[in-house]
Amino acid sequence: MIKIDGLTKHYGRHTVVDNLSFHCEPGEVLGFLGPNGAGKSTTMKMLTGFVAPSAGSASVCGHDIATDGLAARKRLGYLPEGAPCYAEMTPGSFLDFIADVRGLEGNERKARLDEVVEMLHLGPVLHQSIDTLSKGFKRRVGLAQAILHDPDVLILDEPTDGLDPNQKHEVRELIHSMSAEKLIVISTHILEEVEAVCTRAIIIANGRILADDTPHNLAMQSRYHNAVRLSLGGDDNFDEVEAALAKLDSVDTTESDREHGTITAVAKSGSDGASNWHKITDLVNNSNWNISGLQLEAGRLDEVFRQITRGEKV
Ligand SMILES: Nc1ncnc2c1ncn2[C@@H]1O[C@H](COP(=O)(O)OP(=O)(O)O)[C@@H](O)[C@H]1O
Ligand SMILES: [Mg+2]
Repeated sequence: MIKIDGLTKHYGRHTVVDNLSFHCEPGEVLGFLGPNGAGKSTTMKMLTGFVAPSAGSASVCGHDIATDGLAARKRLGYLPEGAPCYAEMTPGSFLDFIADVRGLEGNERKARLDEVVEMLHLGPVLHQSIDTLSKGFKRRVGLAQAILHDPDVLILDEPTDGLDPNQKHEVRELIHSMSAEKLIVISTHILEEVEAVCTRAIIIANGRILADDTPHNLAMQSRYHNAVRLSLGGDDNFDEVEAALAKLDSVDTTESDREHGTITAVAKSGSDGASNWHKITDLVNNSNWNISGLQLEAGRLDEVFRQITRGEKV
């Protein structure tokens, strides 16, 4: 559905997108992850026809963005970074304008307008000028514009950036609800968002792909994969518990956090989750320690992200 082959962008002597290649299919929610300046927005601008590539090619639903750009753009919806809209318009007049641009007519036009106003709860602000709207509402207007023509591909550049937790949750729910039949590409640097909505994550830095996998598989590269975190009910035998954990042959190191009363027993690399978990639960069951919680960790995506983007070994 999206095919990118050797896509490259130079600005002067600076290569900001460097020979990027990947493809993706409907039903995927692809998270484009990377530190600021990684080249996420530039890649999205090339895909959506706002910036011409310096080299390489890309196609959307089989339409080449360079030779068949209009057809490609018909199939996609795009929320640019910061969700820019015409501030002096109202959501109602802005969406009317977008419906014209998208060539929607007759019953379909009316049905789509009604549907997006409903989906994004824009009814109460339809006739208020966009510059007087809260950030959350402005973002919803931007999203409404992107999905109005029911595109097969949605490209959302930092869709939740700057929103409060409730608004973030709402946008994620919306993404989730549309993900079954569309291909959705979002850029973000919020790792919990990747875990919450993405089926695949591409990590980029300096315009290059450093990792391409499911969030789950990426988290498995973390040293905390299969670690067990114990919460102690009191401070009485903190040292005794830590020493006993450290002696287990499934445990590589222990990390204690006295302030929160937790000890994390990091599994030896290569030992499976079940063995570390069973050894630790056996130990706990045969002791009279006051343990208030035990948790098996899947791994920490933030740690993997830092290591990958800083070029450290995971
Ligand atoms: N129009 C431009 N002219 C020159 N440099 C640019 C331009 N647009 C982006 N850049 C540079 O390209 C790099 C990548 O930017 P961008 O794609 O916006 O990164 P991201 O979205 O990952 O934060 C940055 O170093 C940025 O300063
Ligand atoms: Mg950006």
